[in-house]
Amino acid sequence: MSDVGRVLVIIPTYNERENIGAIVGRVRAAVPDASVLIADDNSPDGTGKVADELAAAAPDAVHVLHRPGKQGLGAAYIAGFRWGLERGYDVLVEMDADGSHQPEELPSLLNRLARGADLVIGSRWVRGGKVVNWPAKREFLSRGANLYTRLLLGLPVRDATAGFRAYRATTLQKIGIDEVMSQGYCFQIDLTLRTVRHGLRVREVPITFVDRTVGASKMSRSIMVEALWRITFWGLTGFPERLERRRAARSRR
Ligand code: GDD
Ligand code: MN
Repeated sequence: MSDVGRVLVIIPTYNERENIGAIVGRVRAAVPDASVLIADDNSPDGTGKVADELAAAAPDAVHVLHRPGKQGLGAAYIAGFRWGLERGYDVLVEMDADGSHQPEELPSLLNRLARGADLVIGSRWVRGGKVVNWPAKREFLSRGANLYTRLLLGLPVRDATAGFRAYRATTLQKIGIDEVMSQGYCFQIDLTLRTVRHGLRVREVPITFVDRTVGASKMSRSIMVEALWRITFWGLTGFPERLERRRAARSRR
């Protein structure tokens, strides 16, 4: 992985006690040089304690960020990105804890990054991408969300809500993560939008998304409602482009 530099794989967890050990083991086997950061929101099932044990067993490779409570996927990733940027990682990877994203496909994302991209998305909805065992309702929701996003925001991306991604540190530094407000899964669309609007290169590689077999999804009505209103708001106002243009004009004065 020397061609992309130091890699940090950030895994957000909320009640993933039975999944976290296996996924960390698979990441370490698939990309032995990468470090892992588990960002746990004080899971009631004790995921944080299991994470601490994994870190104690491999203190150079596995780290834990304990957060006070469930604050959403977006907030967990922002905190994880900050942790990694402060420590000089070159690439920051997003990956779910439940096995839906297969660590064995991570080299494919990193190779694409090395070949020239600022953000690589592991995509279910490009040629070669697949979903396995996903309920029809979830597939419909994901395709619908992506269609609505494309129509309103004109993003040149097939899977804008995907949560299996590799960002260059420079990408996160350029787009600025401090003002991100998205809390739930629309965080993914938010950062995709910012990356595209900054003229950075977003590329998709096909992945096979496998539905979890252990534990429960945290998808909720409030996550859907947040995504719907934010996408609509961004579509109508041109956010964050307009905000940024205003800020640039102000700094020229
Ligand atoms: N720390 C933290 N805090 N972790 C969270 C939170 C939270 O509030 N909410 C969810 N997570 C973690 C879960 O523990 C899991 O590791 C990962 O985030 C994804 O959550 P799931 O609940 O498994 O998501 P999903 O399978 O329903 O949704 C998938 O599809 C979405 C839509 O395409 C994921 O790939 C999402 O990333 C994606 O946006
Ligand atoms: Mn999942």
